[in-house]
Amino acid sequence: MDATETIQTFLEFFADLGHQVVPGSSLVPPDGDPVLFTTAGMHPLTRYLEGLPHPQGRRLAGVQRCLRTTDLDEVGDDRHLTVFQMLGSWSLGDYDGPRSLRWGWELLTDRLGIGRDRLHATVFGGDEQAGPDLASWRTWTELGVPVEPLGPDNWWSNGPTGPCGPDSELFAWTGDGPPQGTPGTDQRWMELWNHVTMSYRRHDDRSLEPLPQRSVDTGMGLERLLMVVQGQPSVFGCDVFRPWTTALTGLWQPDQRSLRLLADHLRSSIVIIGDGITPSNTGRGYVLRRLIRRALTVLWRPDSTRTLDDLPASLVEQTLTQFGRHEGIGLVREVLRGEERRFRGLLSRGRTVLAQFGPGQPLTEADLRYLHQTHGLPPELVTELLDEPHAQAGPPHHRRCPDIAAGRTRD
Ligand code: SER
Repeated sequence: MDATETIQTFLEFFADLGHQVVPGSSLVPPDGDPVLFTTAGMHPLTRYLEGLPHPQGRRLAGVQRCLRTTDLDEVGDDRHLTVFQMLGSWSLGDYDGPRSLRWGWELLTDRLGIGRDRLHATVFGGDEQAGPDLASWRTWTELGVPVEPLGPDNWWSNGPTGPCGPDSELFAWTGDGPPQGTPGTDQRWMELWNHVTMSYRRHDDRSLEPLPQRSVDTGMGLERLLMVVQGQPSVFGCDVFRPWTTALTGLWQPDQRSLRLLADHLRSSIVIIGDGITPSNTGRGYVLRRLIRRALTVLWRPDSTRTLDDLPASLVEQTLTQFGRHEGIGLVREVLRGEERRFRGLLSRGRTVLAQFGPGQPLTEADLRYLHQTHGLPPELVTELLDEPHAQAGPPHHRRCPDIAAGRTRD
């Protein structure tokens, strides 16, 4: 089953159960929302999960593009992506969590054909503020699904305050051979589908207030689902990444890790630009800038004459279309071209400046501050330049790039 068929199967399943399909929203959250990007399918629905009546009713389903910078350092492994699509279903004060779990189980096993013996559930095991999620626990037991009670990972919230509640998660076995252990003990269980019973609002003082209505919010990463349905060892093997693999291999023959990073970061950049963001030194634009520059750093390591201009227009178009955008190819190419030019200029100035530091002398914190403040060279870029084969100065102090969301550059 390819991506289109899988999305269709998901949406039709919930439409047959009385759900209205809501259109996907931008990666940029609505005004007044404190988060940088839409990180979950429920995000555009926050007000409705808190009790506001939704114009399309109490049962909804949809596909939402999401971006998570928390997973950035893990990109390149088998299952983490920066931008991805989330399949979601919602009960706004309508049916309860157990109903959602039963439907979810039916969809994965009967309709999508995932082997029952390859799935494992987890439930919230309780803490000092809320008891264990016994309703979900009982439901999985009745369905004959192995279930494990866990701690804070099974309490879902969108941030330090706001709607939250116990989360029952379905994991799929991704290892070779028969499943072993549990999601809590064996990493080869991959988190697939979260069913959150939104029951409380958390306040600034960490207290929990019951919401006027209980809702259900579910979310499942499309690319992870495709990995399981299509029997692939990683998300990069599923059909949505095939055009990327073919194009990047044809252009630059990158090794596997570089291929994954380039595919993830460039695909993400295209979607972000498609939502109207341009590179800058703060906020969303900074995230975009770091993604493009990380991709360029990998791309130029073996050959600095390579250019993003060589990305086929059809690949940009396919990516935008897959994420529900039907225009913007010209804009995407222009923004990528501009950022590539700016980064090339910065690197060339950086090499000249770094050549002034004597060979074999490690850079001090003060040097790094000077390079950043006076020459606009952020520490992570200095690190990259010093890693180049003909770098003049000694080994840098910082090998790890600072968190993308935390740092800033001047250019
Ligand atoms: N909000 C939950 C998640 O992001 C379920 O959609 O996983």
